[in-house]
Parts: sequence; C-alpha cells; structure tokens
Amino acid sequence: MRSTPGTRWRVSETRQIEYDLLNVDDVFDPGNAALLSIGRIHGGRRFVVVDDCVYRHHGERLHAYFAHHEVQARIVPVAGGEAGKSMDTWQSLLRALDDFPIHRRDEPIIAIGGGVLTDVVGFVASSYRRGVPHVKVPTTLMGYVDASVGIKTGVNFNGFKNRIGSFEPPARVLLDRRLLATLEPRHLRNGMCEIIKLAVIKDAGLFQQLETFGAAGMASAFQGAQSAHILDRAIEGMLEELAPNLYEDELARKVDFGHTFSYGLETRHEEHLLHGEAVLLDILASTAIACGRGLLGEADATRILALVATLGITPAIELLDVELMWQSLQDRIEHRNGRQHVPLPSAIGACVFADDITRAELAASIHTLTAWTQPQT
Ligand SMILES: NC(=O)c1ccc[n+]([C@@H]2O[C@H](COP(=O)([O-])OP(=O)(O)OC[C@H]3O[C@@H](n4cnc5c(N)ncnc54)[C@H](O)[C@@H]3O)[C@@H](O)[C@H]2O)c1
Repeated sequence: MRSTPGTRWRVSETRQIEYDLLNVDDVFDPGNAALLSIGRIHGGRRFVVVDDCVYRHHGERLHAYFAHHEVQARIVPVAGGEAGKSMDTWQSLLRALDDFPIHRRDEPIIAIGGGVLTDVVGFVASSYRRGVPHVKVPTTLMGYVDASVGIKTGVNFNGFKNRIGSFEPPARVLLDRRLLATLEPRHLRNGMCEIIKLAVIKDAGLFQQLETFGAAGMASAFQGAQSAHILDRAIEGMLEELAPNLYEDELARKVDFGHTFSYGLETRHEEHLLHGEAVLLDILASTAIACGRGLLGEADATRILALVATLGITPAIELLDVELMWQSLQDRIEHRNGRQHVPLPSAIGACVFADDITRAELAASIHTLTAWTQPQT
C-alpha cells in the first residue's frame, strides 16, 4: 500500500504533575514512615544519595532506619559544594546505580542534601532509564526554601551554571527543619538570601517577619516556633510563583529576582561567592537600579539594606563588576528567549519587569551601592 500524502497523525497528551511537600519531624526516626512513604517497603530497595556532611552527622541513624524497616539500602555519600555539581558526579552516580539495580517505578531514589546534591540527583533520576522516581530531603536552608521546592535539576557545564539539566518533578519532598541545626552560619545566611528575595519581590508581610524575627531565626538555625512560620511562608510564596509555571512557559518570573547578574559573578568568583551571596549582590544592584529609575523610594531601599545588616549579612559589594554583570545579562537574554525580563522592586513586596537596562545603569548601580554601604564618618 502506498502512503497517502497529506495524511497527518497527531500525538497529544496532558500529564498531571502532582507532588506533596510535607513538614516532618525527625525524618530519620525509625518510627517516622515518611522516608519510605513512596514505593514498596516489603522486599524493597533504595538507592540513597546523601551529602557527606549530613552523613557524618546522621549516617548511623540512616543505616539503622533502613535496617529497622528491612529495606536494603545502598547509601552513597557525596561531597557538597558547587565544585561537585558536575557531569562527573552525575556519571559516577549513574554507574553506582548500575551497580545496585532498582525497580524502575516503585523503588525511588532518595536524595538527602543541599541544593547541589538534590540538583544532581534530580538530574540522575530524570535521565536514568529515561526517568525513575525520586524523593528529596533538603538539608540546607537553600534547599529547604528553594532548590527542593520546584522541579528543576541540573549540573554546571562548560563554565556555566546549570547549563545541562531537566524538569523532573519529585515524587515527594520531606521537610525536616531539625536538619538545619548543624548548618554553618555562612550557609544559613546563604539560604536567607533567597528568603530575602521573596520578601522584597512579593511578600511585604514576610519582609516584616524577617525584620522582627529573622535574626533570632538565624541564631537558632531555624529551630524556634517563629522560624517555622518564616520557613512555611517562604515555601508557600515560592510555590505560588513556581506551581502555575512549573515548566517556565512564562519567562517573566518574579523568582528570577536576583538571578540575572548573579550568574557571571558566581561563576567568576566561585571560590568566594556562594549562590545566595551572589543572588544578594544582584538583589542590591537591582534595588539600586530601581531607585535610579525612580521606581523605588530611597526609604524602601534603606529598609532593604537595614534588613540585610540586621540578618548579619555583609554583601561583597567590591566584587560587583560592570563587564561581568553585562555579560551575564546577555546570557540571560538568550535564556529568556530574547528579552531581559529583569524583575525590579517597585515597593517592598512588589515588582515590575524591565527590558531596557543599559550598561550605564549597571555602572551607576555599583556607584550607588558603594555609597550606600560605605561606613559613615
Ligand atoms: N533547582 C533549583 O530550583 C535551585 C534553586 C536554588 C538553588 N539551586 C542550587 O542550589 C545550589 C546551592 O545549594 P546549597 O547552598 O544547599 O549548597 P550545597 O548543597 O553545596 O550545601 C552547602 C554546604 O552545606 C553542607 N551541608 C549540607 N547539609 C548540611 C547540614 N544539614 N549540616 C551541615 N552541613 C550541611 C554541604 O556539604 C555543603 O558543604 C546551587 O548549585 C544552586 O544552583 C537550585
């Protein structure tokens, strides 16, 4: 039979994305079923990737947890830190998986760690056998309020952050804030920068909470009751932005606040700048640009700087560099399909998108910030 020209077949499928983020108390307590709440338990196996810092603190309990439930677990500690967010780590985990076969559907990979680990393991899960389920357990503040919340995975490649990656929804996210107790203060501050981002760009109430309770939250590593409110509110705000736009069909995203100029800074100064620290520099530069445009009043800018100081964060303004920021913006324009889409604050808790930021404005923003942050004599 000959084919008929003009005949057309169309394939169309809609797939529901559904996953829960669950607050849990003491996730490694054998009496807590959350860690095994997805997938089969009886005769089950789990490939568990865990940040090596977390393994040092909780490794024994983790082994005991799976032993208690008679689930055969291969627990693989992996170093945290941006340097490990690489194709090499991704490949070595794929090899380790081949060495510990798991069912394709009912033995989810479990990722326990910071944003680096959950990004790499999420990418492993999305690429191994074209996709196996995974459960995320964030252990850093950055992971807790940001990296674990959405569906983006990735590794750094060719000198660019997150150049290779995928959208891979987790089967479940387990939020146990007890895990934050062992975080270094610098990593608490790092995660806090993403909370500041949300507060400035969309949630004036959260901003007030940070002004009042943020410093105590940092001092207690988010173990107190008020801290729980801040964490819940940050996650809720993040989900409000991410959930209706999981696959980023809309490229003007409020959550990209702080994520335009930061890319180049973070890559160039990998030794000195953590992700959140670079994001904060971008937030402040964007604040200065907004002030320069008359979008944001100086009083609001002063409030933002005062909050940063209250939280004990000292931004490395000296690392801001016009050329680096401009190049970073050019790369973001490719990423945002030809538009700048740069969120700028128009009040505490509100933003607009700019598409016409100039190089001269970037230079001016650095001058402004330097003047704002210079010690008063
Ligand atoms: N996928 C997303 O949507 C998304 C969003 C935001 C950030 N990210 C990514 O997240 C990464 C940064 O994440 P991060 O700041 O968590 O870095 P990280 O994963 O490197 O963790 C920071 C450090 O904390 C250690 N650590 C982890 N848990 C600990 C604990 N409970 N106690 C003590 N130490 C602990 C780690 O070993 C590491 O040294 C960046 O690569 C960024 O691109 C992704």
